This record gives sequence, structure tokens and C-alpha cells, in this order.
Amino acid sequence: MKRISLEKKSKEILIKNDRGGYTVPTAGLYPFQWNWDTGFTALGLIKFDEQRAWQELGKLFEGQWQDGLLPHIIFHQFSPDYYPGPDLWGIPKDVFKNKQKIHQTSGISQPPILATVVKIILNEAHDKDLALNSAQELYPRLLAWNRWWWRKRDPESTGLSVVYHPWETGMDNSPAWDSPLKRIESQNNAEYKRRDLQQVKKSQRPSQKDYDRYMALLEFFRSVKYDPQILYEKSPFKVIDLGVNSLLQRSNTDLLSLAQLFGTIEEQNEIETRIRLTKKAFQRLWAPEFSTYLNWDCITNTRIEIPVASGFLALFARVPNENQVEQMTNELSRWGCLCRYLVPSCSPDSRYFEVKRYWRGPVWFIVNWMIGEGLLYYGQTELSEKIRRDSKELAEKSGFFEYYDPNDSSGLGGGEFSWTAAIYLYWLSKKI
Ligand code: GLC
Repeated sequence: MKRISLEKKSKEILIKNDRGGYTVPTAGLYPFQWNWDTGFTALGLIKFDEQRAWQELGKLFEGQWQDGLLPHIIFHQFSPDYYPGPDLWGIPKDVFKNKQKIHQTSGISQPPILATVVKIILNEAHDKDLALNSAQELYPRLLAWNRWWWRKRDPESTGLSVVYHPWETGMDNSPAWDSPLKRIESQNNAEYKRRDLQQVKKSQRPSQKDYDRYMALLEFFRSVKYDPQILYEKSPFKVIDLGVNSLLQRSNTDLLSLAQLFGTIEEQNEIETRIRLTKKAFQRLWAPEFSTYLNWDCITNTRIEIPVASGFLALFARVPNENQVEQMTNELSRWGCLCRYLVPSCSPDSRYFEVKRYWRGPVWFIVNWMIGEGLLYYGQTELSEKIRRDSKELAEKSGFFEYYDPNDSSGLGGGEFSWTAAIYLYWLSKKI
């Protein structure tokens, strides 16, 4: 398809997936507002409706908890298409900020991209008054959410924050979570019915066993009433995820710019201290023999030796040194020789690599944009451009899917997908 018509199509998708102030990732499969999807979607919206982009972000924060947690799903309205819905999450009412306006939400979070998105929109917006007012309004909420990651998810101030569920990583069935997840006791609970399989082929979605374990974790969270301290001490799944920590570190940097405009000196100092601490702590995750960073299992206190795409998100976080960047660039180029389209979600020569299954091999545009952006920052223009060209070609060949086969380019998962369309508008629609 031609560039102009792809641009038109991607705008149409965002408009079609609008449910009145917020955008669903795709009709049917994901009928609510998702946390990190919102950030990427807003990047697409600024290309044709800045007001609407700010509204998208504000709408998500309506579901923020008193302690700063920004949930991974806000259930703005009922839908029979998705499982687990609000009843299963069973969130205690007293967690919300505004007691008059309770929202139905999940009880876990997702990778924090929003401070970065706010900073980008603020820089690129044409309507500067609207942008300054909106960013100023969002600043305290962004600060509260990042603080929640620093304090509730890293109460010992190590510099790295933990997650308790694969869904919090946004990369739900990454092979990196296989072994930490295997320890979760679960029964095949015939009482629940997955809704995802009514919309997408089984071979492109997580296995039943994985799903049972996802549900077992959720039951555990509910049983301890989402108490942050108990979760930190007792959660049977506890990992340091490279995606969350990379996006958090990048968010902290962008939050610092916002604090310089809207915050106090104390807040700026607090953010700067956290950035320094995290940058140092990241070294713990560097694995020279893999030429990338590795995720960490906090229950066994060991690294998870499966190279996955999120290892390269450290580039987006701007934490590696020149030497590490060189090694990572070589490694990523090597992946590029093993499959047709970069960036596969798992190393193509890993035994866990599966071309069509969700986060175990397919290419995701949001990941490509972040890695491409990180490479560009470090002056690795050629590889960054290759990732952009590959992504563009995928859209041209297959349209706007949730994810893509890294070899035959077929579109997989949900169709007419908001963040894919948004990243196209924001990053790919320019002429190369
Ligand atoms: C899937 C993805 C997650 C995304 C959600 C909505 O659960 O794994 O990252 O936020 O869909 O698109």
C-alpha cells in the first residue's frame, strides 16, 4: 500500500478505536484502556489532533490509585469480550484518590512510558499553551507514579524495581518468564473461559498452562488485598524486568525535564538521585557473553539467561557505555542476519524462538521504535534506519497488526491495532 493511503488508514484506525476520550488497543480482543498503549497511541494522535492526545493521557490517570499506582487496565465500560474483568480483580474501593469517582481497574501496572511521551508531546506540540497547561497538570501524577515504582517496587532502594506478574512487563509470555512462572502452583480451572481464543488463533497466544498461572497470581494479589509490603515479601513471581526498568529510567530522565519546568528543587534532586542509582544498578544486569542485558529472577536470585528484545531497551534508557553499545549493535545486527525483519522479540537462535507466538519471536512496532530511537541517540544510524525500514515494509505488506512474523511478514494477533497505527504515524510515515 502507498504511504499516503497507509497514513490515512492509520488515522482511521485511531478514530475507529476511539471510545470517547480514550482509545482501545483493538476492538474485541482488548476492549478497555491499557496503560502503555495509551502512551504510544498519544504519539500517533499528536499528528492530527493534539487536544485529543492530551485527553487520552488525562483519561488514563482518572484510574490512578492513592499511592501512585497507575493500573495496567482501566475498565471504563463493561465488555463481555475480555477475561479477566473487574470482578476478578476485586480492587478494594479505598485505593482510589477521588472517593466520589471510583473507577474499575486492574491492580498491577505496566511499563512506564508516559513521562517520556509527555515530554515528547510538549516539545513537538504546535499549541504551546495547551501543551504547557496539560503537561503541568499531569506532572504531579507522573511524579507520583514514578515514585510508586521507586518506593513500593524497590523498598530497599537498590535502583531496580520489581514486577509481580508477566502482564506488568507488557511482554506477557516472553520466554524469559517461563522458569519464574513454572513455580506458580495452578490448577486447570475449568470455571473460567478465555475470551482471547475466540478472536485469535491458539498458536499465536499464550498456552493454557500459562493462563492458569496468570490467574493463580491474580488470586494471590486479591487475597492479600494488593498490600504493597506483603506483595514485596510474598509474591511467588518477582522479577527485575529489563523493559520496565529501561522505560522507568528513561521516564525518570524526562520527568526531570518536566520537574525543571513545573517542580521544586527538592523534586529535581530526588529524581536525579534515582537516575544515578539506577544507572549504576543496571550494570548488575549486563551479560558480556550475551552482548546484552538479562532479566533477573528475584526468587532464585539468578539471572534469566534467555536473550530477548527488551535487553536492547537499555539503549532507550541511555544506560550503556560506548563499549556496551558497540557489542549490542553487533549482536542486534547478528539477529538481523538470522531473520528477515528486525527486531524479533527473542533471539532467533534461541531454542525458545517461535515466529508466530506473541512475545516469543514476533516483531512489535513499539519495541522497534524504542530500540531505533535508542540506537539513533548513540549515533548508530545505519542499524536504526534498518529497523525503521523493516517496520515500514511490514506495514506496507501486511497492514496494522498487533505483531508480525519476523520471517514471512504476516500480520498476527489483533488487527487494526492502535499502537501499530500510531507508531506508523509518528515514526514511519515520513519519507525515508
Ligand atoms: C497484550 C500485550 C500488552 C498490551 C495489551 C493491549 O496484553 O502483551 O503489552 O498492553 O495486549 O494491547
